[in-house]
Amino acid sequence: MQIIQTAQSLRTRLSKEDAIAFVPTMGNLHDGHLELVAQAKKENACVVVSIFVNPLQFGANEDFGNYPRTLEADLAKLKAAGADVVFTPSEVEIYPDFDALNNTSNQTMMVSTPAIADELCGASRPGHFNGMATVVLKLFNLVFFNGASRKVAIFGKKDFQQLLIIRELVNQFNLPIEIMAAETMREADGLAMSSRNGYLNPMQRLEAPRLYKALNLVVDAIKQGNTDFKAIETQTSQFLTQLGWIVDYIAIRSSKTLLPANPTDNQLIVLGAAKQGKTRLIDNIEFNL
Ligand code: PAF
Repeated sequence: MQIIQTAQSLRTRLSKEDAIAFVPTMGNLHDGHLELVAQAKKENACVVVSIFVNPLQFGANEDFGNYPRTLEADLAKLKAAGADVVFTPSEVEIYPDFDALNNTSNQTMMVSTPAIADELCGASRPGHFNGMATVVLKLFNLVFFNGASRKVAIFGKKDFQQLLIIRELVNQFNLPIEIMAAETMREADGLAMSSRNGYLNPMQRLEAPRLYKALNLVVDAIKQGNTDFKAIETQTSQFLTQLGWIVDYIAIRSSKTLLPANPTDNQLIVLGAAKQGKTRLIDNIEFNL
């Protein structure tokens, strides 16, 4: 496994590869990430993983500074998982004018995202998806555009809104990249794996799987014929709030568009975002009627 820090070395290393399967990450890897790598391995391609905590997708009051950085452990996991190349650029490598004192950059060309990016997670994290789409486009430019004829990038379904926006990025910018999605990996009690689970104290960790349980109750209610989606969303939010959660949203949407679902849609998704203390957890369940 080769560890590469600079864009130029990455391009040189990948110049002869005809097939590349790419897994972008922000590190602090768990089994969910390793599942993406396992999926990449099946592509018979050079497996490239990036580890880059992207300052542009964090809001001013978010956890960029504290985001867990566990490079040595991540590299050991990636070696065991069979990654071929790990790209670990500095902030300056990606944003040449990055100001480390203020965590700001002069990156003024940003990907502007479709309206759906202002809803759900985008509503409480303004600018998050612009920053995410901008770095993903940069990483795609660095990883792919050196002649590979097969280009695959793999993302997890836990970040379903991110996945949809990346699919739009690829469609609307005519990028010849196949986007593949991997199922959410869960702990034994149902909690979706996430780097942010490490922020939970023992009591919060015990309570955390409730979000997934609540989403399952939503699915059950709809499958049993309840079509009053607004009422289900409100009741589920109230239920979690009574148990001490700070609910951002519970939303029943079309899994094709992420627009609010109507009772004639049969490809649905229920998504939730809620905080245990300061830790914001997200989860979703896709289902068909
Ligand atoms: O999902 C993530 O870890 C990040 O949003 C991504 C796609 C690596 C971009 O920074």
